[in-house]
Amino acid sequence: MSLKVCVIGNGAREEALKEFIKSSPLCCEILNSPDDNPDLIIFGPEQPICDGLVDFYQAKGIKCIGVDKNFSRLESSKLFAKKFMAEHGIKCAKLLPVESDLFPQVVKADGLCKGKGVKVVYNQQDKDTFTKSLNMPYFIEEYLSGDEISLMSYFNGKRLVNFCPARDFKRLTNDLNSPNTGGMGAFCPVNLSLEQTEKLELYSAKLEAALLNSSANFSGFIYSGLIWSRNDWYVLEYNVRLGDPECQVILNHLKNDFLTILLNNEKPVYKNGYSACLTIAAKGYPENPVKGDEIILPNDKRVKVYFAGVKQNNNKLYSNGGRVLSICAHGDNPFDILYDYAEKIQMKNKFFRKDINIF
Ligand code: AMP
Ligand code: GLY
Repeated sequence: MSLKVCVIGNGAREEALKEFIKSSPLCCEILNSPDDNPDLIIFGPEQPICDGLVDFYQAKGIKCIGVDKNFSRLESSKLFAKKFMAEHGIKCAKLLPVESDLFPQVVKADGLCKGKGVKVVYNQQDKDTFTKSLNMPYFIEEYLSGDEISLMSYFNGKRLVNFCPARDFKRLTNDLNSPNTGGMGAFCPVNLSLEQTEKLELYSAKLEAALLNSSANFSGFIYSGLIWSRNDWYVLEYNVRLGDPECQVILNHLKNDFLTILLNNEKPVYKNGYSACLTIAAKGYPENPVKGDEIILPNDKRVKVYFAGVKQNNNKLYSNGGRVLSICAHGDNPFDILYDYAEKIQMKNKFFRKDINIF
């Protein structure tokens, strides 16, 4: 097999996907446009998936890896996701009346918000401020406390293959009141107890059965945001794509070929140690990131750099987004390597979390 593959999307996640697919023995060429006759299209971000582009290209006879429009509502409509879970006995946080004054509670916008439409609020004032800032319908759910994992799975129409659990750091800072972002860092694997591992297998079996029983007929990624609470896994959210930056850490942790896992039903096999990623953002992110800073990168072979929001001009690099760089390392203490590197990056308005570590 020698495939021409198009990866849709252009963030750090897609840079990583392109790197790993390009080096696969199953791929002969990476195409930039889905209209250049690819043999396979792999979808990165949720927007084109939710817009129905998987269905569109599939109808033209091109194999696609991406959730179809019907099931993309698992991400685009949190209420659709709640209904799906209720129908298939999958545990999630309970809905509360919109006017509930039981705090903390969680406000969730019912639409696509790039991870920024959710906030845990601790009092009425926080709630009012956040709900006013949302210009779409929202609902309220109970607050669950516990450690979170991101479980990314690949569904091939018949079965679900899980990647190892990853953990991402969604809040802008360690402060409980700071806003959620697309993700400030991540690592994998997460060490789970035996009970957590067993319950994760039960969860995964339920998700697989739910997809099969509802006649899901696509090949694509499903991301389950899970929290360990009341001695079980509860779903906080579904995404219909790989997480960013979770995708980068999983790909860099794999020992075997990613495309072979997707196309030839191989099981993922991993390296020893940990894979980690740190987001270098621009000050002002997520609301109003400063753009246009020149970036000078240090040289360190232990670190891979994926561009998230970078513009290149005359061989120079400039910041051009909220999340600017996604830097990755592997080893027993990969965050030590990443912090050392991050400090040395020259970029006037750089911002990164300094408290992220493996736990
Ligand atoms: P989501 O985008 O739904 O995953 O929410 C973003 C973050 O908000 C999660 O990673 C959690 O840290 C937090 N969160 C969401 N829902 C809840 C909940 N029901 N209880 C506690 N924290 C939550
Ligand atoms: N890192 C979380 C996400 O991609 O939604």
